[in-house]
Amino acid sequence: MSYSFQIKSFDEYKSAYQRSVEEPELFWSEVAENFHWRKKWDRVLDWNFVEPKITWFQNAKLNITENCLDRHLKTNGSDPAIIWEPNDPDEHHRILTYNDLHFKVNQFCHVLNNNGVKKGDRVCIYMGMVPELAIAVLACARIGAIHSVVFGGFSAQSIADRLQDAKAEFIITADGAFRGNKEIPLKSVIDQSLVQCPFVKKVIVLTRTRTPVSMIKGRDVWWEDELKKVETMGNPDFPAVEMDAEDELFILYTSGSTGKPKGVVHTCAGYMIWTTYTFVNVFQYQKGEVHFCTADIGWITGHSYIVYGPLSAGATSLMFEGIPTWPDAGRFWEIVDKHKANIIYTAPTAIRSLMSFGLDPLIGKNLSSLRLLGTVGEPINEEAWKWYHENIGKGKCPIIDTWWQTETGACLISNLAGVTPERASWATLPLPGVQPILVDERGNEITEKGEDGNYKGNLCLKAPWPGILRTTYGDHERCRVNYFATYKDLYFTGDGALKDDFGNFRITGRVDDVLNISGHRIGTAEVENAINMHNGVVESAVVGYPHDIKGQGIYAYVIYNGKLDDENLTRQDISATVSKVIGAIAKPDKIQFVSGLPKTRSGKIMRRILRKIAEGEISNLGDTTTLLDPTVVDEIKNRAI
Ligand code: WTA
Repeated sequence: MSYSFQIKSFDEYKSAYQRSVEEPELFWSEVAENFHWRKKWDRVLDWNFVEPKITWFQNAKLNITENCLDRHLKTNGSDPAIIWEPNDPDEHHRILTYNDLHFKVNQFCHVLNNNGVKKGDRVCIYMGMVPELAIAVLACARIGAIHSVVFGGFSAQSIADRLQDAKAEFIITADGAFRGNKEIPLKSVIDQSLVQCPFVKKVIVLTRTRTPVSMIKGRDVWWEDELKKVETMGNPDFPAVEMDAEDELFILYTSGSTGKPKGVVHTCAGYMIWTTYTFVNVFQYQKGEVHFCTADIGWITGHSYIVYGPLSAGATSLMFEGIPTWPDAGRFWEIVDKHKANIIYTAPTAIRSLMSFGLDPLIGKNLSSLRLLGTVGEPINEEAWKWYHENIGKGKCPIIDTWWQTETGACLISNLAGVTPERASWATLPLPGVQPILVDERGNEITEKGEDGNYKGNLCLKAPWPGILRTTYGDHERCRVNYFATYKDLYFTGDGALKDDFGNFRITGRVDDVLNISGHRIGTAEVENAINMHNGVVESAVVGYPHDIKGQGIYAYVIYNGKLDDENLTRQDISATVSKVIGAIAKPDKIQFVSGLPKTRSGKIMRRILRKIAEGEISNLGDTTTLLDPTVVDEIKNRAI
């Protein structure tokens, strides 16, 4: 498969970009010609950011799995689609060719069908990183069910919230998952969440860890038993269900600055085009290469760059079950060497963590197969960029710094590997179809440069690209308010950025109350709600602070009226509460007990001050005269951790 839409030079990039802005409909219809449609579109794009209403490829019909699987079979059926590397290096890896994957997805569609799953039903998938997770995702897409994958680190309560919000009646899970030296009892977590969700009709359980599980009669079935039933049916083919371009493909929950996580909705055609287009261009994928994205499919990066983007492009996607530091900190490099990976795409937090182990884990690992290194999820600091460049890329591999979000479906701002210029810590230029703009608090475009010679402002997008979110599940108003109401006629990203004279962007981080902990998005309000559930806690305020490995750490200020005989024990109790309510990823790194919080006379917490104290900048707290009780600041300062 060659890609007619692959940009091969900087000049080609410039002309593609210009065309995408001047004639977006023509530009994207040409790209769309490279896909398999049951029926083509009547109109390419119709949109407004007021409602918002965005439709791409109106009235076109397709099924994304015919693009990810069927269309590759004739010429590339025996090419590896997924190479799976298990958690434990002593367990054998698995290779699924396109033929194999097609067969297994079709088989599993029958399982879903036999268990009553129909087009439009919501299916929650809570699994570890095994090939069956990709199979489950694709089978949902093929049958037209809307998948909602929940990362295996979330708690029973988080799953229950998501099940209720999506009104999901079906769950696909496993007995457990292996992660490093841990075994996560997935089914048992699901069981706890189902106490609150009696509407769930079926739970399909894969055997992976042999962790003991309780199977409830009539509700819970084993994946393997269901497959056996399909095997006796003869022909395993399951015709892909015809979907409208704008039918919902999946929901993925993500954190915002307020309240509970919201279900970001992506639709079939636009998401397919955008993930494939960006995969082929940003990574400059060449047929036959092995693409190793280290993300978990529970996050958007795994959806777009392990499953949909690579498979639609007919690529070989390497999927890893474990973690970078187990059994030792050489695990990634061992995998690159073993499977001759050409691309590695990971998070800055992983790079920083591996850096801290020094160079010994690299000894004896042949990394010469690598052509390209990528990062995603958070700003990459220059030190980590250089380490990656020198020690992993041996100075010869381009690095792509890809900026994007759950809501954007796939990359928006990134250099194209080896084709457009790279610059350490800068995401650089927008992809064709992406029109970024920096604005001030009132939404006016920034036209004056700062002292450092760059424009600085809040990052927005002026026009839709095919992969933009369409709504937040069950609550369109929330989508409007969150993304389209801050600034008129703009999509607001929540990020701040710098821009230089050449139009390069450097993303500086969130400007809202969202934290980025090891590349995971967590809302401060969410963490506060969880802390406040602990019975001795009166009130809390959570801010982020710079953390060497995680990028940001969680700093919680807590007013406690229970007995505080042993502060450390109480800290552990509060952390345990957060783990139960959200999941271990949201546990505070630091908890400081305070007698009051700095509030304005109208009762608003002055987070600016708390952030400064958490950052250790206690000498320069700015104006505190508007505080109701300025003395609390001294107390907090003196007892800062
Ligand atoms: C941050 C992950 C700097 C950003 C794909 C964004 C980045 C949030 C980068 C989205 C990058 C992502 N440089 N910051 N290359 N990539 N971010 O939804 O703050 O999990 O808003 O999507 O991560 O996180 P999400």
